[in-house]
Amino acid sequence: MEYRRLGSSGLKLSALSFGAWVTFANQLDRGQARALIAQAFEAGINFFDNAETYANGEAERIMGDVLADLRLPRDAWCVSSKVYFGAHDHPAPTQKGLSRKHVIEACEQALRRLRVEHLDLYYCHRPDPETPIAETVGAMDSLIRQGKVLYWGTSEWPAESIAEAARIAAERGWYAPTMEQPEYNLLHRDRVEVEYAPLYASLGLGTTTWSPLASGLLTGKYAAGIPADSRMATPGYEWLARRLASPEGQARLERARRFAALAAEIGAKPAQLAIAWCLRSPHVSSVILGAGRAEQLRENLGALALSAQLDAATWMRVEVAAA
Ligand SMILES: NC(=O)c1ccc[n+]([C@@H]2O[C@H](COP(=O)([O-])OP(=O)(O)OC[C@H]3O[C@@H](n4cnc5c(N)ncnc54)[C@H](OP(=O)(O)O)[C@@H]3O)[C@@H](O)[C@H]2O)c1
Repeated sequence: MEYRRLGSSGLKLSALSFGAWVTFANQLDRGQARALIAQAFEAGINFFDNAETYANGEAERIMGDVLADLRLPRDAWCVSSKVYFGAHDHPAPTQKGLSRKHVIEACEQALRRLRVEHLDLYYCHRPDPETPIAETVGAMDSLIRQGKVLYWGTSEWPAESIAEAARIAAERGWYAPTMEQPEYNLLHRDRVEVEYAPLYASLGLGTTTWSPLASGLLTGKYAAGIPADSRMATPGYEWLARRLASPEGQARLERARRFAALAAEIGAKPAQLAIAWCLRSPHVSSVILGAGRAEQLRENLGALALSAQLDAATWMRVEVAAA
């Protein structure tokens, strides 16, 4: 495993990490989740990603039970939660968003579900246009001072809002955001490469990036339709299949097809090639993997070795194929 600093912080995360979205509770029970977390930790993964909204808190409950049951040393791994969407199908007005009330209460609830005394990383899962940014920054600062959160950050915030949060923190002597959690893969590049470009040096922003396989599209598995045992056929995620059927989705599918054909040409597994490509960016602190099976996780971990093997000309061909 390779370890990278989370932006300019001193925290070293594994370059590949492991997340719970869709899989935990929907596809994996405690026993299956336990086997995958054990496999990930054994491979050197030290960051496990979660959110209040994943299976309405059940994904955090499973992860917390598993981490406690495995008795891994608490100081050898990091766990996250994210606040914004709430942990209910129909959250009350005070059970969602980034108000001081919900940020603090959601943290308390995540601590209980994850069975930890602090969250290593705590994210604002989306921007909340109905809460002043200063209120959210203040709530995060309070949680850090109380020892309940170590590093706070954002997920899918516009660059100007991240910069504003950092400005407010600097003015008031509060803890500033350390990291962002954006989508980043061969089909979705601009935010990480263009929009956030000024923030890496000016704020020392780190990134933990999501959906390196674009929900599995970049494995090539959707080329001939939706396999019955895949994410897009999972109950509750029909919206992913609908999105794939749209004109934009079909264009993405075509790019994924070209990418998978090139992977075959250069003798690489598409999943490994797609993840290895994410690892190339110096602004990516950790690529969060998703996997519902041991074979998938094993294959995806192989991206680390592949990323060091290919030359610049090959990477150029990869980018052209997926463009
Ligand atoms: N902050 C945010 O807003 C946000 C949003 C999304 C995700 N995330 C985080 O990022 C993590 C990763 O995102 P993601 O799950 O979307 O990642 P992804 O790598 O794009 O998709 C993972 C899915 O692709 C399929 N897959 C994985 N490896 C495969 C392989 N080798 N061969 C064939 N199929 C394979 C599996 O689904 P099937 O086998 O079911 O098809 C797996 O669950 C999440 O768990 C979550 O922690 C954050």
